[in-house]
Amino acid sequence: MELSPLRYAVIGLGGVAQVHLRDISSQAGVTVVGFADDADPARWRVPAAHVTVPRYQSVEKMLRETCPDLVSICTPNKFHCDYTLLALKHGAHVACEKPMAMTVAEAERMEVARAAAGRIGGINFTYRGVPAFRFARALIAAGELGRVTRVNSVYLQSFLGASATPYSWRNDASLAGFGALGDLGVHQIDSVHFITGLDYQRVVGHAQILAPEKADAAGATQSVTTDTNAAFLAELTGNVLATFETTQVAPGFGNFFRIEISGERGTLAVHSDHPEQIWLHSGESMTRYATWKTNLPQQNVPTDFIYRCGPTSPGAIVPAIRGEPPGDMPTFADGLRAQRVLGAILGSMKAGGWQSLS
Ligand SMILES: NC(=O)c1ccc[n+]([C@@H]2O[C@H](COP(=O)([O-])OP(=O)(O)OC[C@H]3O[C@@H](n4cnc5c(N)ncnc54)[C@H](O)[C@@H]3O)[C@@H](O)[C@H]2O)c1
Repeated sequence: MELSPLRYAVIGLGGVAQVHLRDISSQAGVTVVGFADDADPARWRVPAAHVTVPRYQSVEKMLRETCPDLVSICTPNKFHCDYTLLALKHGAHVACEKPMAMTVAEAERMEVARAAAGRIGGINFTYRGVPAFRFARALIAAGELGRVTRVNSVYLQSFLGASATPYSWRNDASLAGFGALGDLGVHQIDSVHFITGLDYQRVVGHAQILAPEKADAAGATQSVTTDTNAAFLAELTGNVLATFETTQVAPGFGNFFRIEISGERGTLAVHSDHPEQIWLHSGESMTRYATWKTNLPQQNVPTDFIYRCGPTSPGAIVPAIRGEPPGDMPTFADGLRAQRVLGAILGSMKAGGWQSLS
């Protein structure tokens, strides 16, 4: 079958742009037509396969001259909104990084503009593509745990606390908006919603800056203005209590993202270090008896399930643009939902109490 050709451009040629490029440009019919980044082009991370792609330091000029059908936005969070609005104005679909925006108002503006332009918007909640997360979702939808009763999630990293990691935009609230909450917490917020299907009713949180100063690449000391350690509680649909912890400065942890969910008839857990395994204890006969020895066996996600999983984000936007059902693809609506939860957590920190989302 001949696939419609798609002109593709990337804004922000740093770390995560490599994932977008690999996932999107490897698909049939996709041609990379332009790159834009405001830094010195010598610092851009352009893969060998794309060294001949035209480079621009002006995003507007790149969009005007290369006329892309699809644009990935892989810049620091501060620029997600403006570049999304610009790309939509130039008629492009948008694959934007998370968190969707700096504020709820920005995220709402992006979704309104996307709908008015009749384009598709994806937010790169990558964990929706992890087979174990998808399998957990399928098990819960099939009633394997019965009614969901509790959720616990931890997402722990260490890299921002390491002295070898220099100060960056991630430590600057004016560019990042959030620290651990927006970088990691937003994945937790989306993944818990994705797996359980439950919505956030109200939240309360607290965040700290555990590493108040950091040396930049030149050795100068800079103030860290983003949270590096945070915890929040959420009440989900049906009064389900969900507890969350996230940090970027816990020594020894690499990218440790775990979600544990109990229901009336079972418990499951998924873990980013084990994308094709699930911890599962379920069924009427197993949960009839009390036990004082934890029994949560680690099991492989069935290969048949993995083979039948649809495309993952960010690449899933390509078949969606070509008219295929979006499946598990995270959309702007999902980004906005998560942004509202982030906004309510910040609101709770200011007000000192629960914030309602309904
Ligand atoms: N989905 C995920 O799991 C995941 C993982 C990593 C990063 N991210 C997100 O991706 C985004 C980028 O993160 P990163 O780790 O790639 O950062 P990075 O620092 O590695 O790259 C950012 C790039 O954007 C460029 N840039 C900065 N300001 C710009 C501007 N005004 N105009 C054009 N280009 C500009 C920088 O020069 C740099 O090349 C962030 O929103 C981050 O939260 C998401």
